[in-house]
Amino acid sequence: MKGRTESLEFLYNLISVFPQGIISFDIEGSVTLLNQAAKNIFKIEGPIHDYIEQPIQNIVIATKLESIVNAILFEKRINKEIKELKIYDEYFNIVIRKITSGTMVFINNVTALIQKKNDALQSIIEGQEIERKRLAKEIHDGIGPDISTIKLGVEGLLMKTTDEKEKAKLQNISAQVSEISNNLRQISHSLMPSSLLDHGLASAIENLIQKLEISNQLQIQFSTNIDNGNTSIETNTSLNVYRVIQEAVQNSLKHGQAKLIDIGLHKKEDQLQLIVEDFSSLTQEEKLGEGIGLLNMKSRIQSVNGQFKAGFKESGGFKVAALIPIHND
Ligand SMILES: Nc1ncnc2c1ncn2[C@@H]1O[C@H](COP(=O)(O)OP(=O)(O)OP(=O)(O)O)[C@@H](O)[C@H]1O
Ligand SMILES: [Mg+2]
Repeated sequence: MKGRTESLEFLYNLISVFPQGIISFDIEGSVTLLNQAAKNIFKIEGPIHDYIEQPIQNIVIATKLESIVNAILFEKRINKEIKELKIYDEYFNIVIRKITSGTMVFINNVTALIQKKNDALQSIIEGQEIERKRLAKEIHDGIGPDISTIKLGVEGLLMKTTDEKEKAKLQNISAQVSEISNNLRQISHSLMPSSLLDHGLASAIENLIQKLEISNQLQIQFSTNIDNGNTSIETNTSLNVYRVIQEAVQNSLKHGQAKLIDIGLHKKEDQLQLIVEDFSSLTQEEKLGEGIGLLNMKSRIQSVNGQFKAGFKESGGFKVAALIPIHND
């Protein structure tokens, strides 16, 4: 028997120093094993043996794991892997294994990993924004003036010409150059929504809507409770929200031929909720095409620690929803 006690003690010692959180409980739900890492994860106080042979609910109460533990006790058999479960302010990957005498739960803290992933996404997005800003500037300050010079040249020729046919041709060229110049200006503005930084997110969205409504003959309803002086939304979040709206509306136009789009942007305590929905006749029967728009939207929202969902509505049409944590002021 001595050998068995020694190996058990060895096992207990090993588990106690494991960086991974480990808990086990029997079929009645009494804790049989708990290590320091698990104690830290659940932020519970006091010596480990205070929890042994006590109900597992004492430990997992007030966490999302409680409902899973209850399901295990109720259903008797569960093997499960949960990815990126948020417990308090951190993220965990959890492996639940049914063993003969009960259940073992292994918990890995993946907060740092998620943070790294989000940081990487953030740098990609920031890189894209820098490049867009550069392009916008290049078009606005470089090609824009070049075109103006051409227009001036054509107008100079127009003044000198007396031949009516020549005049008509030159007028035509001048009109085309003006159109190119207007288009370029629009491209430059959409690459860098300057109004976003100058007048706040709500204004920038209103500007965007105005342009979209004019050029696409559609109606966009926008409701918000955010005033432009709002300081609780960081510029970075604003820019990401703006880009998500841009892409969602483009998708509604491109795939749903939408004539009516609803945009809602609401601050609810310490969260910002964005919803963009259209009202086409398309439903979930439709197969999604392969693009990068939805993926980009998701990355953008995740890069500011938010949650993102998109899909067809039962009643027809497409809905994009995001929930982003913001600080409360
Ligand atoms: N508003 C919408 N109405 C109908 N289908 C949509 C809508 N938004 C997205 N989809 C579907 O989801 C797919 C993926 O959208 P996503 O924006 O990722 O790609 P895309 O628009 O096809 O291409 P890209 O955005 O890369 O130019 C689309 O191909 C389409 O099938
Ligand atoms: Mg798209």
